[in-house]
Amino acid sequence: LRPANTAGPLAGRRVLVTSGPTHEPIDPVRVLANRSSGRQGHAIAAAAARAGAEVTLVSGPVAIPDPAGVTVVRVETAREMLNAVEAALPVDLAVFAAAVADWRVADGAAQKIKKGAGGPPALTLVENPDVLATVAHGLRRPALVVGFAAETENVVEHARAKLIRKRADMIVANDVSTGSGVMGGDDNRVHIVTADGVEDWPALSKAAVAERLVDRLAALLGPA
Ligand code: CTP
Ligand code: CA
Repeated sequence: LRPANTAGPLAGRRVLVTSGPTHEPIDPVRVLANRSSGRQGHAIAAAAARAGAEVTLVSGPVAIPDPAGVTVVRVETAREMLNAVEAALPVDLAVFAAAVADWRVADGAAQKIKKGAGGPPALTLVENPDVLATVAHGLRRPALVVGFAAETENVVEHARAKLIRKRADMIVANDVSTGSGVMGGDDNRVHIVTADGVEDWPALSKAAVAERLVDRLAALLGPA
């Protein structure tokens, strides 16, 4: 066990981070999922804990270890993620790094769907709740709300639209169409989009993005 960093820039602050994908069941053995290793979100949770915050990490299914000094709540689906996030409020800062499945299967089958004469099953999808937008529009809105946006084109324009639509204070946007920022990869080249404008960061490791982001967010929050 490590003693709390009472001198850190996030000492006395409560921080919530979402990370990883969500898995939406099709039947008991199959899921609809997003690609996400959880590495960026987990690195942010770890960096916030090192900075002295009391951190809750709500994570979908990932294959990486729990970060040190963080309370981890494991979930599968987007709806479970929303419930776990609401249970962790109030917080001062929330960072939504999870790759939430936008849709779920309308009625997941209770039994394994079998191949058969009927041919492949048709899946009817319904939209999942937007965890970030729900929290950002809610009564217990954190002082600082940060989202991510993985885009393949018009990266900054799409991020700016999400900033406004979701009522976030900051969107960390990355271009997943080329070499850097590829999901599951090591490095991330991000653009920090706020109401004040856009800041392009150089290619950094996910750990370095996490450190720099936590420093920036701590400065925006000020002392507790
Ligand atoms: N997000 C969320 N809940 C959802 C979907 C997205 O909390 N159901 C959050 C993500 O964690 C991320 C931000 O919203 O911080 C943007 O996610 P993204 O998938 O880029 O945005 P969408 O609104 O789903 O738009 P798109 O159609 O581009 O997928
Ligand atoms: Ca989405």
